[in-house]
Amino acid sequence: MSPFLLTRTLPEDATDAALRADVLHGLTRTPKTLPPKWFYDAYGSELFEKITELPEYYPTRAEREILIARADEIARASGARTLVELGSGSSEKTRYLLKALPELHTYVPVDVSESALTQAGQALIGEHPDLSVHALIADFTGGLTLPGTPGPRLVAFLGGTIGNLLPAERATFLASVRSLLSPGDALLLGTDLVKDESVLVAAYDDAAGVTAAFNKNVLTVVDRELGADFDPDAFDHVALWDAEQEWIEMRLRSRTAQTVKIPALDLTVDFADGEELRTEISAKFRENGVRGELAAAGFELTHWWTDQEGRFALSLSTAAGSS
Ligand code: AVJ
Repeated sequence: MSPFLLTRTLPEDATDAALRADVLHGLTRTPKTLPPKWFYDAYGSELFEKITELPEYYPTRAEREILIARADEIARASGARTLVELGSGSSEKTRYLLKALPELHTYVPVDVSESALTQAGQALIGEHPDLSVHALIADFTGGLTLPGTPGPRLVAFLGGTIGNLLPAERATFLASVRSLLSPGDALLLGTDLVKDESVLVAAYDDAAGVTAAFNKNVLTVVDRELGADFDPDAFDHVALWDAEQEWIEMRLRSRTAQTVKIPALDLTVDFADGEELRTEISAKFRENGVRGELAAAGFELTHWWTDQEGRFALSLSTAAGSS
């Protein structure tokens, strides 16, 4: 049986400390914000899985279409012996890559969720008896250290999650990924593309209300983890397209003037009637923008693939010579 290793690079209490810091920072500034990473407790992750199956939410299906069509090309171009996947979650899409990479020595899934890593890792070694899996419990936006596995390395960051970062955060993130790699290693990046506003807004405000429940779930997480008394039903789900920034914003709009207590932070937060709390940006991209952001971080974009309808792109880039 192939080995399965699990390394924790985050202290056990890091998540709690980070949540406190984010809530304190985000709810005491104007406008109020909360970062999207706190959507994903067990229930939120389940809701996200449901979102990926909604008729309006095309990114997951579009990216899967590209992966299936291009897995062999990705494998040939990268020649990867180590595949690192940032935010691996259930590793569902990774299966297409693993199938196409017979030379692969080690798969390194990176996620903050230990349960997702263990589940996905165990399943994969069952399917690929010659593969080592070295899972990392880590926040990929923080400083990562990779295990000393054989190159070339391919880092995959799928789903369009890079769109959740602000432009300055993306620059820092891409530079930190580049710093993990050697010349000739590669980055496979999933980016959702700019398109018709009605299609984008529907993808983030579905008719069945699953995205609304997903958005409100962040309040439930703060209630449970920090003893707060948010009433999720006292907020409305809002999804809007910012045409200038070219991103979707999700917000929670207070239905009344209300006061929320957060005992773990000794904090009281006032919301005005109609006040909005920003919970996520999901940036949409164009080829030249992606190419430019990658170049600024020391990557050269070599392949750009979209689904047939041109809704979503996967790009493959090489770590450039001198960083
Ligand atoms: C998982 C970050 C790619 O931004 O589209 C889905 C999360 N938010 N519906 C996205 C999400 C609302 C999703 N990512």
